[in-house]
Amino acid sequence: MTEDFPITGIVSVDLVSTDLDRHADFFRDVWGLTPVDHASGARFFRGTGSDAYVLALLPGTSPGLAAVTFRCASEAAMQAVVTRATEYGCTVSDGPAASARPGGGQMIDLREPNGCLIRLVHGDAPRPADPVARDRTERLSHVNINSRDVDALAQFYERVLGFRLTDRSAAMAFLRCNSDHHAVVLAQAEVEGLNHVAFMLPELEGVMLASGRMRDHGHDMGWGVGRHGPGNNVFAYFVDPEGYVVEHTADVLQVDDGYRVGRPQDWTWPPGRTDQWGIAAPKTDACKAAQTAVGFV
Ligand SMILES: [Fe+2]
Repeated sequence: MTEDFPITGIVSVDLVSTDLDRHADFFRDVWGLTPVDHASGARFFRGTGSDAYVLALLPGTSPGLAAVTFRCASEAAMQAVVTRATEYGCTVSDGPAASARPGGGQMIDLREPNGCLIRLVHGDAPRPADPVARDRTERLSHVNINSRDVDALAQFYERVLGFRLTDRSAAMAFLRCNSDHHAVVLAQAEVEGLNHVAFMLPELEGVMLASGRMRDHGHDMGWGVGRHGPGNNVFAYFVDPEGYVVEHTADVLQVDDGYRVGRPQDWTWPPGRTDQWGIAAPKTDACKAAQTAVGFV
């Protein structure tokens, strides 16, 4: 079944780096992304899939989420989203304008009500995908955004961006824009900002291997390995050298409109358990703190 979403996928995130060289070395040598040659002050990285890039690192003085980029289904779909965003009261940049980033295409920026910059792209050129490597990121999986009012922000994603709610747990709303159970998760918090960014690996074995590579380089796991409830994906969370929480994930549930939207009472755990297997070690204090430490720029 082909579903009619104006936005068809999450493409990339822009993160601010206080030490660009060190941060770039981490994502290349440890996290497992591939640098993209590009004449710019930013550093771009791709996975093995067809997206021109999945991560941009921008120089700056303090960490912050600078943008989340989504791909639109068509020029008309992009314009429809922009019109709805304007009506919703969002600030929208001039454009669409030609993107000078890897992949090119047309892009336009809008600021969602809580302050996160959302970049829409259409017509960016896919790159030839590499052979699948089980311990390497294929593409971005999702962003998890902190919000003081999850339901209000979920309403924005549904009404303006055309996402659909797949599950609502006590603390989180899960939203999709294609068959992945979620591309965006909104987490109830005392602050607005970035909770974490998740990178899609081909399989559970890859999550384990990539996690071992992290440990080899001195990065202990912040939470996991486990299997989430909503979305059924396997996960391993880490805190990167700049303080961002990054997740290796795989096995994200594929859904369509026949999926029954879950409610908080559908997603409860027995005492002491935080994942389906019951093996994930408790989240570290450092990981918990990092999940609410990064704001928007
Ligand atoms: Fe996640």
